[in-house]
Amino acid sequence: MNDLKFILKEKDIPLAWYNVAADLPFELPPPINPGTKKPLQKDDLKAIFPDSLINQEMSTQRWIEIPGAVRDVYRLWRPTPLKRARNLEKFLKTKSRIYYKDESVSPTGSHKTNTAIAQAYYNKKEGITRIATETGAGQWGMALSFACNMFGLGCRVYMVKVSFQQKPFRKTLMHIWNAEVIASPSENTQSGRKILESDPNCQGSLGIAISEAVEEAAQNKNTNYALGSVLNHVLLHQTIIGMETQKQLKMAGEKPDCLIGSVGGGSNFAGLVFPFIKEKIKHPKLKIIAVEPTACPSLTRGEYKYDFGDTASLTPLIKMFTLGHKFIPAGIHAGGLRYHGCSPLVSALADQKLIESKAYPQKQVFEAAVAFARTEGIIPAPETAHAICAAIDAATADKKEKCIVFNFSGHGFLDLSAYDKFLAGDIQDFHLSQEEIAKSLSCLPKL
Ligand SMILES: Cc1ncc(COP(=O)(O)O)c(C=O)c1O
Repeated sequence: MNDLKFILKEKDIPLAWYNVAADLPFELPPPINPGTKKPLQKDDLKAIFPDSLINQEMSTQRWIEIPGAVRDVYRLWRPTPLKRARNLEKFLKTKSRIYYKDESVSPTGSHKTNTAIAQAYYNKKEGITRIATETGAGQWGMALSFACNMFGLGCRVYMVKVSFQQKPFRKTLMHIWNAEVIASPSENTQSGRKILESDPNCQGSLGIAISEAVEEAAQNKNTNYALGSVLNHVLLHQTIIGMETQKQLKMAGEKPDCLIGSVGGGSNFAGLVFPFIKEKIKHPKLKIIAVEPTACPSLTRGEYKYDFGDTASLTPLIKMFTLGHKFIPAGIHAGGLRYHGCSPLVSALADQKLIESKAYPQKQVFEAAVAFARTEGIIPAPETAHAICAAIDAATADKKEKCIVFNFSGHGFLDLSAYDKFLAGDIQDFHLSQEEIAKSLSCLPKL
């Protein structure tokens, strides 16, 4: 097959999301209420989430219908294309075939809109008027601002300070979609003030920004919280990516040998690979690779333990691969990958060896990003470039002919200051010592 693009029709947008919890060959450790030390109850989440999302979070039902109003907004950009990176293959002189699912065609430039639209819809339906959230590099903040604007909800975004400074244009886009954007840590919340007291120059982290947004939502009746990754319902909404990919690979006459996604909290990776997990259980030869930065290596160097999802310990305890909730990663340009933990579902699959993980340093990631941009023409987001790095490795590791598919989670048109630095030879790698990791893990809560 010579085609470069595999395009579905609007009628091919899946009618239901796929819930991998229905097909896991093991029991998923439940989230724990840190007060009672007992498994979390639905009521524990009511102060910050709508009922429909709490039900999805705890559901083991295999298929969950996508509401018509959500599918109608999806139709603005979905189905997204599956593309063959033939020029990259030629450049690498590989016999392997490399495909990428292009989620960068969404209005805000990344996969994050798949869940933002769903979350805004359910909150609106249940009478909420405003949503507070965090954002790392700004992709999630933009997606939620866009979604809230679509459904007439207010939106406040706590943006990690280092990204607030590095990526000002994402802020502008959030403003266009009527959101308020605040650099985190901020003076707005108790969690933010406490951090600033001990470190006035703190550059922020996703863990801190989550604390600020959760605190605000918990204290305001009309305000809920929305998370851009990690939680089961967020990963559920992303499975539309993998389901479309399955149809498109059929069109291409392909069966994947290797599936790859970058991992921050785990949502774009899960979106691509969860629909293939049943296949992986039947055919263990299928390789599934989660890719993270060496500066924030939760899957490759963290521990599989119960930990808080945020820095100020406001969230339930979740069992996940973690570097410790107080870990503040170095200010790498892939801001969306600077999270101390990883989703419980992805972590459990890693623990069961159904997926593997790899970490790459920032310079190598940018080399891969620029190779992709020069061959395929699209500028990847630095987060996405981690997946490209692993795809290049998989294609060149040996002489075998393989079908490699990765998730092109977002474009990097608003990450150009990072590319400027790379082209000027000004990109640093950060070494994370075993002592630093051990110190950070020493704050794990005792259960
Ligand atoms: C383009 C892009 N890819 C990947 C990620 C990582 O997040 P997740 O692991 O939830 O997909 C982000 C997070 O902001 C992102 O913006």
